[in-house]
Amino acid sequence: MAFGLSWPYLIIGCIFASLARASDIADVYPPLWKESPGQFSDYKIENGKYIINFWHYPERLGTYKILLNKTAKYFAKFSPENEQNILWGLPVHHGWQYQTGRLADPTESTDCGHKSGDHLCISVDSWWANLNYYLSAMPFLAAVDSGIMGIPSDKVIFLPLPKDQMNFCYNVSSCHSSFPEAMKKWNEFYQHVKSHSSSFDDLLEYLWAAHVSSLEIARKNFHNRLKYYSKQEADFERSWALFVDYLAPPLFPTTLIRTYEFQKELPKRMLMNEDRAPFIHDFSGFQNTVLFALSVLHKVHKYTGKRHRDLFICKFYTLC
Ligand SMILES: *[C@@H]1O[C@H](CO)[C@@H](O)[C@H](O)[C@H]1NC(C)=O
Ligand SMILES: *[C@@H]1O[C@H](CO)[C@@H](O)[C@H](O)[C@H]1NC(C)=O
Repeated sequence: MAFGLSWPYLIIGCIFASLARASDIADVYPPLWKESPGQFSDYKIENGKYIINFWHYPERLGTYKILLNKTAKYFAKFSPENEQNILWGLPVHHGWQYQTGRLADPTESTDCGHKSGDHLCISVDSWWANLNYYLSAMPFLAAVDSGIMGIPSDKVIFLPLPKDQMNFCYNVSSCHSSFPEAMKKWNEFYQHVKSHSSSFDDLLEYLWAAHVSSLEIARKNFHNRLKYYSKQEADFERSWALFVDYLAPPLFPTTLIRTYEFQKELPKRMLMNEDRAPFIHDFSGFQNTVLFALSVLHKVHKYTGKRHRDLFICKFYTLC
């Protein structure tokens, strides 16, 4: 009977079935959530514009915090306390990237993002940080552009980096001209957020469409960063990106608690060459299972070039 389901439901189902509800709501928030900027006036102002440094973890996280705050009223109809705001998926996942060392400089030529060095720094060489740029800068600026943030479109700019400027955009107009399709999708999402008649499932569908659109460009533009990582971590990155492609169509609800519970099962540190899922001794059984499942997905995709749902379904039955 389960053969009619797509397999990502099964992994997710397996995980949820065996997890207790998060008992302490305080630790579901990303690291440094409380300390990060929560309003525009917490950022630097120059010539009447807010200047945001997206390569500093609290400042990037703060943009999510403002976004969650400004969209809260539209999600109030789904639950109290903003818990069902589906934008939670973005900062919660970013918090995992920070916590697990994935925003640090993978080349180790600088101390950016490393615990012993400038630990709040986000490295422009980090594959994770670059993908996340498209999933933070774009949703944030599109929200400004669609009027949700309550400031004019030209009031906010991001600090440019000395390196690789072409791959990023720094304000509403330059993001529109560099990445028109993704910005259009994010704008569409916010138009539906603002509409009273949108259902939860409608919003999820528009969110995922925008997410996939950002990710598609990001994957192409930052493929060259994979070489900085151990083979295991680079494989995980490829399979994660593929997985998010699969995850989107079933419309995984990226609310606060659901995302938090799901990503507890993701690798809790960077992977090293000698790590072999499902036998990584400092990972839990589920963390091993998820990593192994992701690598199977990636291998099958690589060798056949297509999606073998039935095979996965059989595998997951034996795993969980
Ligand atoms: C949004 O932020 C403002 C200012 O920090 C705060 O007063 C307000 O309660 C927040 N709203 C929500 C829904 O979190
Ligand atoms: C936006 O960024 C572009 C390119 O970086 C720049 O040319 C333009 O002046 C900026 N616009 C505003 C309003 O800051």
